[in-house]
Amino acid sequence: MKKPLQYIHIGVGGFGQYWCSAVLPRLRELGLAVPIAAVDINPDILRKAKTQLGLADNQLYTSAAQAIAEHKPDFIIIVVPPAFHEEMVDLAMRHGCHILSEKPIADTMAASCRIFCKVKKAGLKMAVTMSHRFDQDKQTLEREIKSGKYGQLSSLIGRNTWNYRKKDSWGKFRHEMADPLLVEGTVHHFDIIRALSGANAQTVYAVTWNPPWGEYAGDSNGLITITMTNGVRVSYEGNKASATTLNGWCQDYFRAECELATLELDNRRLRVMSDLNGERVITEKQLANQAAWTNAWLAEMFVNWLNGGEAPPNTLDDNIQCCALLFAAIESAHTGQPVDVQNFLQKNMKAVEQNLPRTKS
Ligand SMILES: NC(=O)c1ccc[n+]([C@@H]2O[C@H](COP(=O)([O-])OP(=O)(O)OC[C@H]3O[C@@H](n4cnc5c(N)ncnc54)[C@H](O)[C@@H]3O)[C@@H](O)[C@H]2O)c1
Repeated sequence: MKKPLQYIHIGVGGFGQYWCSAVLPRLRELGLAVPIAAVDINPDILRKAKTQLGLADNQLYTSAAQAIAEHKPDFIIIVVPPAFHEEMVDLAMRHGCHILSEKPIADTMAASCRIFCKVKKAGLKMAVTMSHRFDQDKQTLEREIKSGKYGQLSSLIGRNTWNYRKKDSWGKFRHEMADPLLVEGTVHHFDIIRALSGANAQTVYAVTWNPPWGEYAGDSNGLITITMTNGVRVSYEGNKASATTLNGWCQDYFRAECELATLELDNRRLRVMSDLNGERVITEKQLANQAAWTNAWLAEMFVNWLNGGEAPPNTLDDNIQCCALLFAAIESAHTGQPVDVQNFLQKNMKAVEQNLPRTKS
């Protein structure tokens, strides 16, 4: 059996607490990877992670630069707010470490394209934990649609509404940032939509706003229309300032209109419906089963990839399409115009490639 790989976990507060309690212990149990240091700018939360990860005092750092320079891990895990992702990726690249990062790749399209180009050029492996697409209910729906039993997929309808209207109820930084619904919420649903439709986005038209009762600096509501490259049409509603939570995290609503059946996922219940032979027939589908889902599954696939296994489905190549859809939707929301997502990606990638420093031959 291979020796466990060594990693540094950066950002142990907020969602990093979920990693420390539910994701990282499994990597150790599987004998795949062990932590050699943890980093957070908050020393109090570092002390909690020390116990959770079984680390010594000299393995706790408030500076990622110092931790990576001193330990030279095989890979780093980034769970800090998106605006700091590029800084962490740059540190990893300086020391030749692979990268497993929380979504999105970065907080802007330009930074996402820079990370994409730099990591590719350095020949390093990077995957992005866009976790909700890899949850049991969405995976079951995706597998059903792709089974071919229901004929061609024509359209998808998605809905996620939450009562997170009060200040800080959805984490402080999300109430202060621009476009919180799209960047921190809908980004997952864009990824799910790509997976369910089996295609990337061709065009997106997004209308976003914040109602008077939403305690947000940016837009907390959105109505979005997307046409995928394979012609599948999508309609999506997101609302972070709703009076009630109808489909919150992990309880998504997605309806897939296929030629021979309507598939409806609502609060982790999947039903297949059709009246095509007279009376409506409703079939409840059992959700698929496997050892792990979401981040735990993604972390396992990432380490297997580093060990020479096949690339996981959430590599940088895959996720840059999700970023393109996200930032094209933001452009659409800001300009009021539909945006061609593939042109948007090419244009941004070209601009970044032209500005990256040339390596001397
Ligand atoms: N996949 C998911 O379902 C999911 C859910 C929540 C958050 N996230 C992602 O996780 C990341 C972190 O979000 P969060 O909600 O945990 O944020 P947060 O602000 O609640 O916590 C971030 C942690 O990082 C630390 N930190 C901030 N800057 C740092 C730096 N420069 N160096 C070291 N530590 C630093 C903070 O002290 C804090 O402990 C984001 O990319 C977010 O999008 C993903």
